[in-house]
Amino acid sequence: MLNEESSPYGSQASAPAASAQQNSAGSVLDVKKVRTVHLRQAKEAGEKFAMLTSYDTLTATIFDRAGIEVLLVGDSAGSNVLGHDSTLTITVDEMLPLVKAVSSAAQRSLVVADLPFGSYEQSPQQAVASAVRFMKEGGAHAIKMEATSYHTEHVKALVAAGIPVMAHIGFTPQSEHALGGYRVQGRGDSGEALIESALALTEAGAFCLLIEMTRSDIAAQIDRAVHIPVIGIGAGSDVTGQVLVWQDAFGLRQGKMARFVKQYANLYDTLLEGAQAYRQDVRSGAYPAPEHRFDQ
Ligand code: KIV
Repeated sequence: MLNEESSPYGSQASAPAASAQQNSAGSVLDVKKVRTVHLRQAKEAGEKFAMLTSYDTLTATIFDRAGIEVLLVGDSAGSNVLGHDSTLTITVDEMLPLVKAVSSAAQRSLVVADLPFGSYEQSPQQAVASAVRFMKEGGAHAIKMEATSYHTEHVKALVAAGIPVMAHIGFTPQSEHALGGYRVQGRGDSGEALIESALALTEAGAFCLLIEMTRSDIAAQIDRAVHIPVIGIGAGSDVTGQVLVWQDAFGLRQGKMARFVKQYANLYDTLLEGAQAYRQDVRSGAYPAPEHRFDQ
């Protein structure tokens, strides 16, 4: 049985059960459309779920079909799609078409749009204005925001506006320069501060935490301390969900990978070999062959 009811307003809205109960198919995630509440139910039921980045319609279609519960239109599009040197320079205007492409393609996955650097820090009002654009113009279902306990008022304002918030803690790439580079978080005294931030952001109303490149014992402690799901990237296995950047997971990008990346395919070599074979065929005249031509 699918955990989905028809909406009184004729949309795709679901009305999931209030508590985590496995349905007859055996998983709380056997739903037609993943909602934030299903992720909470997954945690309560001891189930794990998967998130991938996606920035375009074709990957969103494939990942959605593969059953990936959450698609993140990350600000990592700055480097992975637009060729920027870091994630700091991408803007809301640049991300909007990508958010729209992903949310139009996703049938089941929850689509989360990442508030880029400069689009929310100044005030809770600025955060709401940027998030509204992602929801209204981009069709996102939720937003992600890099956060510390300083951002609890931002989270409260977003939640009050009806916007589900995933709070990104631990290593936060937008603060790369303040954090002194790409460094594992939660070491030494910073573990306690991280746990305090996690509790404050949960209390402020975040539906989920994302914790990046952090000592796995601290991430596990946070997952146990909060009632909302915690998604890890480089934060060990004792959390509810995992996320990877798709170009890393499927080997489209080459070069040094972070230790936490597991590579499930080698698309770089597949595309390189395909492009080389195509060029070779064009130069030799083997392509187009008779079957590719319109002779009448
Ligand atoms: O933008 C992004 O891709 C992210 C992931 C690293 C979680 O924030």
